[in-house]
Amino acid sequence: MSATPATPVRVLVAYGTANGATAQIAGAIADVLRKAGLQAEPRLVRFVADVSPYEAVVLGSGLYAGRWQKDARKFVRRHHRALAARPLWLFSSGPLDVSASQRDIPATPSVQRLADELGAREHVTFGGCLHEDAHSRGARMILRSGKGGDFRDFPAIEKWAAHIADALLAERGVSP
Ligand SMILES: Cc1cc2nc3c(=O)[nH]c(=O)nc-3n(C[C@H](O)[C@H](O)[C@H](O)COP(=O)(O)O)c2cc1C
Repeated sequence: MSATPATPVRVLVAYGTANGATAQIAGAIADVLRKAGLQAEPRLVRFVADVSPYEAVVLGSGLYAGRWQKDARKFVRRHHRALAARPLWLFSSGPLDVSASQRDIPATPSVQRLADELGAREHVTFGGCLHEDAHSRGARMILRSGKGGDFRDFPAIEKWAAHIADALLAERGVSP
């Protein structure tokens, strides 16, 4: 086995976001994949026209009332067939407390349905982030109740990304 793939494995790291927190999670995942020798591109779902150039996809979104942000749901509908045909990992970013760092938080029923329909390999829930500058009515209400803050666990995010890189490289016959 060689240490690098002969042709680069191109991985789409697509994300839906309403308040920006998930963008940095996607960026951290793409960084780890790139360091492992994969060609990873973080992209806002709205700006992905075609999934076909990518060999694998990591797709995630912030949670809003138990569902993914609407552009992420639209993305799944539009690219359903291409996503289902590729190795696919899903993540949600949500809980505004330390719970996601302490135990596995199952996908919400809405997200689990997507994972099942698409035949995703895995879904993981990471802690979310809500800053004082979030402006929607819902965000203001949560902030007023004292529940804002940054609960994204970047070491856990990076560990998950490294495990995706290992899986993709092993399938290409590349040794770590
Ligand atoms: C109006 C509103 C509703 C939310 N609903 C949920 C929810 O149902 N479950 C959850 O875990 N987090 C929920 N959150 C927290 C967000 O998912 C969290 O802030 C996430 O990191 C947002 O990602 P984004 O900034 O990329 O959109 C909610 C936040 C807001 C502002």
